[in-house]
Amino acid sequence: MAANIQTTRSYLLDKEQIPLTVEEQISDAERQQLTDKIKQLLKQQNAVIVAHYYTDADIQILADETGGYVSDSLDMARFGNESDAETLIVCGVKFMGETAKILNPEKRVLMPDLDANCSLDIGCPEKDFVEFCDAHPDHEVVVYANTSAAVKARADWMVTSGSAVDVVKHLASEGKKIIWAPDQYLGQYVQAQTGADMLIWQGACIVHEEFKAKELEIMRAQYPDAKVLVHPESPAAVVAQADLVGSTTAIINAVKTLDAKTFIVATDKGIFHKMKQAAPDKEIIEAPTAGKGATCISCAHCPWMAMNSLRKLLQVLESGSNEITVEDSTIKRARGAIQRLLDFTSEQSATMLANDA
Ligand code: 13P
Ligand code: SF4
Repeated sequence: MAANIQTTRSYLLDKEQIPLTVEEQISDAERQQLTDKIKQLLKQQNAVIVAHYYTDADIQILADETGGYVSDSLDMARFGNESDAETLIVCGVKFMGETAKILNPEKRVLMPDLDANCSLDIGCPEKDFVEFCDAHPDHEVVVYANTSAAVKARADWMVTSGSAVDVVKHLASEGKKIIWAPDQYLGQYVQAQTGADMLIWQGACIVHEEFKAKELEIMRAQYPDAKVLVHPESPAAVVAQADLVGSTTAIINAVKTLDAKTFIVATDKGIFHKMKQAAPDKEIIEAPTAGKGATCISCAHCPWMAMNSLRKLLQVLESGSNEITVEDSTIKRARGAIQRLLDFTSEQSATMLANDA
């Protein structure tokens, strides 16, 4: 296998940089009131909700009921690009709002909370990243979607969890050496799958990093017939125990298609809403996040995703606040990396359809 040289230092977050998860507590009556008002304003403003699977079930239900979209980060980008709406309300984290703006500069993009960030984005500061890339000019720069617009502007390719292996395989087949940032676990997984020559940034997702391999082994022994579904942002020892490793969409599809009654799931538990909808008769169990004596911080729920709420959603629609802005020069440079991925995945789908015909 090709060399796997890491960055010279780690970019993991300190505990103080991680917000506490605050879940919105609302009564049924308030929920009804909020959703009625939001529905009315969405119509008046020709706006749609584009939400990630990790957001609160109330937001996902509202998006589905109002012609919006709930998906993984790749399809969120595609949907925003294809929708006729003048305003996109992106319920997710900052990089998702920025990607929507980069692909749709003429649209208004709002987010319920502009502080909803991501440990991978925070752990890949533009200045350090540019220096790292400049030090390795013979490498193709591939960044995960979970990065700032400025970091994407320095990249050749943006990839998502659902597309990373295919893109890197393609680049490796052309003999390219790769800089990968920022998720070290996803980078290691992609390298193992492709054998590519990769320089890997040392960032991590604070949610997936907490899944524990030893405790997962114990859980698997308790549920010997269960299948294990793992997002590739998880540590290698957790990934190694998976029956399926894949994006959030792949995990939802697996609960429908795999022949098992019980599933142990190593990703944010916000996804359980769609998994239960997809397979109501199946049992879904959270993979363990706390080892003996240890306590988890995120406990399988992203604290930044949890910042999206119905109350804040109504507030931004009423006030027009929390608009995502990205400088024109950054848009121009970042768009190339994102569009390259969208073109690559469209070509792949077209080839698959042609082969099936
Ligand atoms: P997906 O692209 O698989 O939805 O992942 C996004 C993410 O942030 C996972 O933590
Ligand atoms: Fe980022 Fe992890 Fe939250 Fe996904 S779950 S947005 S990778 S911190």
